[in-house]
Amino acid sequence: MTDICVPIVAENVEKVKSDIKEAEKHADLIEIRLDFIKDMTKEKIKELLNGNNKKIIITCRNKKDRGNFDGAEEEKLELLNASIESGCDYIDIENDSKLLNQIIENKKTKTIVSYHNFDETPSLEALNQKYNEIKSKKPDSIKIVTQANSINDNFIIFELLKGKDDLTAFCMGIKGQMSRILAPKYNSLLTFASLEDGKESASGQISIKEMKDLYHVPLLDKDTNVLGVIGKHAENSQSKNMHNPVFVNKKLNYVYIPFKMDKEEVNEFMKNFRKSNFAGSSVTIPHKEYIMDFLDGIDETAKAIGAVNTIVNEQGRLTGYNTDYYGAVSALKEKTSLSGKKILIIGAGGAARALVYGFKKENSEITVINRTKEKAQKLADEFEIKSDELSNAKNLINANDIIINTTSIGMHPNAGESIIKEDEFVSGKLVMDIVYNPLKTKFVENAQKAGCEVIMGDKMLIYQAAGQFELWTKNRPEFEEMQNALQRAIRGDL
Ligand code: ATR
Repeated sequence: MTDICVPIVAENVEKVKSDIKEAEKHADLIEIRLDFIKDMTKEKIKELLNGNNKKIIITCRNKKDRGNFDGAEEEKLELLNASIESGCDYIDIENDSKLLNQIIENKKTKTIVSYHNFDETPSLEALNQKYNEIKSKKPDSIKIVTQANSINDNFIIFELLKGKDDLTAFCMGIKGQMSRILAPKYNSLLTFASLEDGKESASGQISIKEMKDLYHVPLLDKDTNVLGVIGKHAENSQSKNMHNPVFVNKKLNYVYIPFKMDKEEVNEFMKNFRKSNFAGSSVTIPHKEYIMDFLDGIDETAKAIGAVNTIVNEQGRLTGYNTDYYGAVSALKEKTSLSGKKILIIGAGGAARALVYGFKKENSEITVINRTKEKAQKLADEFEIKSDELSNAKNLINANDIIINTTSIGMHPNAGESIIKEDEFVSGKLVMDIVYNPLKTKFVENAQKAGCEVIMGDKMLIYQAAGQFELWTKNRPEFEEMQNALQRAIRGDL
């Protein structure tokens, strides 16, 4: 059972009091960081510790331990003793503090002895040594927190937690977030969450709202099935917002988290993924092709497309799938049948490949155009479709029924750009953009102004996610459920 602790980092006593009241609504436990409070006195500690209805950890971290306290150790001891006298539940103290023995020996308050490494995650062996060294001092519990420089550092922490029932351990930094979320699965005593964005006490801390409402951390346990998205900028993916709410609604014991990694981390991560028996993953830019080297099988569709956006762990065997084409085909089929339709695809990258594959299966007549003509030509040759010139867009739009943008033009932060101008569109066409951020792109806006029917990028995104969800859980999610979740996230209220 893991408790979520919210640290209070306000700079004056009055603000600390109001933040405690707010934190009490959401947290299991509250940590008061004395070192952040500029007007702290031992008299005021009593006030702070009076009348709270959640357990309180008192921490006063020195400057050298990346805290703010730069007073004398005697002064700190006075503050900690005042906290003990006022009935705080725990004192957190650094492993190398001169005050350690005095604090551990007090009989009123429990002691958490902590070790932080802000530079790296040492080896499992070194961390176990550190744990044993701290344990020999007989604290009530131990806290080990390290910096994740690679996603793989999280797995060292998961190993460290094995078989220990007195340890809080996780990684800091954005690549360490999975250890904060998965704390209940790996039996960390505590995980820390900020009261709100901007009130973090350490890097990588996730807000309590996100921990509870998005990742539903209180519902996770050792049996939770882990899914996520492998990508260089995985933290920006919308998929977590679509999958997690549906797991809760359907009472499925799954969680979906960002697996942020660079190419050099992929090999080791896939070994850890297998060892940890994770249930599956999405794959996004730029690893959709590279990931194929690490799987046991690739289904026919993904093979033909040449890219994997979904991994499914089928009893230890990792299979790659591609649901992007299915997303695009399903989004269009809401509006029209595709057999015999003339489709103009703009762009010749990975996304275009998936769409060409999908529409060919539907017996559509496809033409592809692209900035780099040779790439359009190559795609056309491979799939036996037509290619043409981007400069001929207006005539081609006139000659086709469906027009699709697969280029990244118009995507945040370059919203406002469109590969097709308003006067190049021809009224009455069906137009789809695969860009979903922003939802209404300039491309879509131009098409609408010219009198076309439009499909925005969220439809393909949701359908491809629904396809993944079904592959992982054998459960079909309702489209509206995922759409509502996505729209809530885009609006900013999770
Ligand atoms: P994805 O996997 O998302 O399709 P990609 O493989 O990098 O990404 O493909 C990006 C597509 O957007 C390509 O068709 C690219 O055109 P080029 O082949 O000429 O590079 C197109 N694209 C990106 N930026 C563009 C721009 N500024 N103008 C025109 N096309 C652009």
